[in-house]
Amino acid sequence: MTYVNRVAVVTGGASGIGREVARALAANGAAVAVADINLEGAEEVAAALANDGARAEAIAVDVSQPEQADAMIASAIEAFGKVDILVHSAGVGVERSFLDTTPEEWQRILDIDLSGTFFCGQAAARHMVERGYGRIVNLASTAGVRGGTGRAAYGTAKGGVIALTKVMAVELAPYGITVNALAPGPSKPSSWRRCIRRRPARSTAPASRSTATERRRRRRRRRSSSRARRPAT
Ligand SMILES: NC(=O)c1ccc[n+]([C@@H]2O[C@H](COP(=O)([O-])OP(=O)(O)OC[C@H]3O[C@@H](n4cnc5c(N)ncnc54)[C@H](O)[C@@H]3O)[C@@H](O)[C@H]2O)c1
Repeated sequence: MTYVNRVAVVTGGASGIGREVARALAANGAAVAVADINLEGAEEVAAALANDGARAEAIAVDVSQPEQADAMIASAIEAFGKVDILVHSAGVGVERSFLDTTPEEWQRILDIDLSGTFFCGQAAARHMVERGYGRIVNLASTAGVRGGTGRAAYGTAKGGVIALTKVMAVELAPYGITVNALAPGPSKPSSWRRCIRRRPARSTAPASRSTATERRRRRRRRRSSSRARRPAT
């Protein structure tokens, strides 16, 4: 796929999934605005893309602030003349049980992960509507579909991202704008590695490894115990 003459804004572009998306878009011809709250990181990514021959700019943004989302899109338009693509990857993860989640944590995750998606999507879409073309991709998560332990705030925010994406998709389709969400499971990038490292270590004893022989033995044991439980006829 080629993105020659396309302009993309990638939020959260300083690291992880956003950085890889920015690289892939640039490698396929797009001009890329790398937007992140971590300006230094965004500048490093943009410099590396430019070094490889792409047109790239770094933009500082806190996606939880609507005026900053507007300013981000305005800066990208100033730099490249238009915005065709928004990949909204900025986000923060937290693993905290429902009972332990504080009001501050709840609000912070919803502000960044859910409201940030709304503010950036709205800022980009207002411009795309005028041009009659746009591609928006929001990063959701499997946690937004299935919940799971420790996902009170994060899972709720990502569930909201999925619902919001569906609303955006049907409302913006008449303007030539497609809106999709990606819901990855845990992958390597930084924030989740930090979360996973904080989890209590699981036993790695050989008994937990399931070889074909062990599985056969377990099946045999289950069959004989269910025979034993069956009432005598
Ligand atoms: N990596 C995974 O396993 C995984 C799984 C499911 C969903 N996701 C989602 O994918 C997206 C990217 O995740 P990642 O693993 O690449 O994370 P990451 O931490 O590597 O990157 C997130 C980026 O967002 C930026 N950011 C954080 N708060 C911001 C704010 N307020 N304004 C602007 N930028 C901000 C960070 O500086 C960082 O560069 C997130 O939305 C995350 O929830 C990730």
